[in-house]
Amino acid sequence: MATLISNPQDVFPKFDSIPPDMRPGEHPEGERYLINGEVHRWDGPFQEVLSPICIRTERGVEQHKLGHYPLMTEKEAMQALEAACDAYDHGCGKWPTMSVADRIRCVEDFIPRVVERRDEVVRLLMWEIGKTLPDAQKEFDRTVDYVRDTVSALKELDRVSSRFIMEPGFLAQIRRSPLGVVLCMGPFNYPLNETWTTLIPALIMGNTVIFKPPKYGVLLHAPLLEAFAQSFPPGVVNTVYGEGPVVVGPLIKSGRIDVLAFIGSARVASILKHQHPRPNRLRCVFGLEAKNPAVVLPHADIDLAAKECALGALSYNGQRCTAIKIIFAHRSIADEFSRKLVAQVQKLKAGMPWDEGVSITPLDEEGKPQWLQELVDDAVRGGAKVINEGGTHIDHTMYYPAVLYPATADMKICQVEQFGPVVPIVPYDDEGEVIKWAIDSPYGQQAALFGEDPQRLSKLIDVFVNQFCRVNLNSQCQRGPDAFPFTGRKDSAEGTLSVSDALRVFSIRSLVAAKSTDENEKIVSQILTERKSKFLSTDFIF
Ligand code: G3H
Repeated sequence: MATLISNPQDVFPKFDSIPPDMRPGEHPEGERYLINGEVHRWDGPFQEVLSPICIRTERGVEQHKLGHYPLMTEKEAMQALEAACDAYDHGCGKWPTMSVADRIRCVEDFIPRVVERRDEVVRLLMWEIGKTLPDAQKEFDRTVDYVRDTVSALKELDRVSSRFIMEPGFLAQIRRSPLGVVLCMGPFNYPLNETWTTLIPALIMGNTVIFKPPKYGVLLHAPLLEAFAQSFPPGVVNTVYGEGPVVVGPLIKSGRIDVLAFIGSARVASILKHQHPRPNRLRCVFGLEAKNPAVVLPHADIDLAAKECALGALSYNGQRCTAIKIIFAHRSIADEFSRKLVAQVQKLKAGMPWDEGVSITPLDEEGKPQWLQELVDDAVRGGAKVINEGGTHIDHTMYYPAVLYPATADMKICQVEQFGPVVPIVPYDDEGEVIKWAIDSPYGQQAALFGEDPQRLSKLIDVFVNQFCRVNLNSQCQRGPDAFPFTGRKDSAEGTLSVSDALRVFSIRSLVAAKSTDENEKIVSQILTERKSKFLSTDFIF
């Protein structure tokens, strides 16, 4: 392991020096896929999975070959679609007509089956996407908590819906009903969490699901296929693997996908959405790009701002949609802030995901270090300097973070989402400059404000809440806690996710209403007391 200012030459290990319980192992499970309740073994062509983690061998430093996954064709994608459509059966299938209590029971049975596979999934998160051990554990545990919280939120929703509404002349019961077949696609940086934060609410609301893992972060889903197969009726959860245009394009073009839940780039989201033959019928839930700014005001607590910005910009190498991707520092404190930020960055340790205290790890996207370097070179040509020692060093899949100062808002690094460890600091004189940048930005997810002057903060808060969807005071940007709404304006999102919001996103309100006549009241009473209907019911889930 190397600190950022030490010689980073031998950051990659020899295989034998990797602690035995952290070694990657074999992953034949990656050859399997789940369609119509059955886990099949694929005998067609495969995609090789190269870990971002390199190993020093006699041949030199090489990316470790981790395994492979099926490169499915349109035919298998259509089989998955057929299975999901059959299981939904236009809303008449076993799953969409099951009582909420029974669906909850399926999810409750699912949880321990998932927890059993924690170690394998965590290890694959490290090896497939270079996430540190504590972050990989956190991703897994947070996801399981999300599933449990979703169950609690649905119970609460159902309790509220179990009562009748009496309006003059009418009685009614309003509940939430499923929408149909949902296609879930998560991103590579949170391949488990951000797939399941759409998949689980979609499922529990009675929809049937096809999920396609992202390009990186595929194998980690394999240990969980049995848990899905054992916990849910056939066809309720199906997987497809392969290249997006080959397997996803035909699914959307079929017109039989009712909801598209996608976390990724705005460009891909737009292509997918427009492939649907009847776009008005397609509901979209998107988490897209972001360019979250931090603004360091005069009189801010500079130590705190530097610490939060380093963490916010560089945890998991800056590969978070919520990462701080540009910092505006008031010119009066910009030099001091930059020095303090660099001091925080230099404390970071680069190494392998299982190394203790490590935060800078290998990047999984092919060609990413070179692309980041192009952004840095462009900024340097424009007059910025890399002000941290060791910054921009490339070692195979490693990119040592670069702090750029002074950057200007027109540089490419200040316009695009870098999704990597490059931190531009833009000095400003007047908050109006930052507001203009925010208005012109195509993104609007979150911002972080650092300051101690309530008046100056208030002015910015009131403008920023109409530019972004979350304004963080004296702290970095982040998605959690998962009870908070997670969304964005402009090209950053469509729809809102949180534990309770997601249940609404994947369902629609349906009601049974009747004129309040004696006869109708008698009929409804009989349905209730004889428990004839699952929808029209006052049963209470504890
Ligand atoms: O990549 C986007 C994630 O939703 C960010 O979540 O703020 O908890 O890291 P996080």
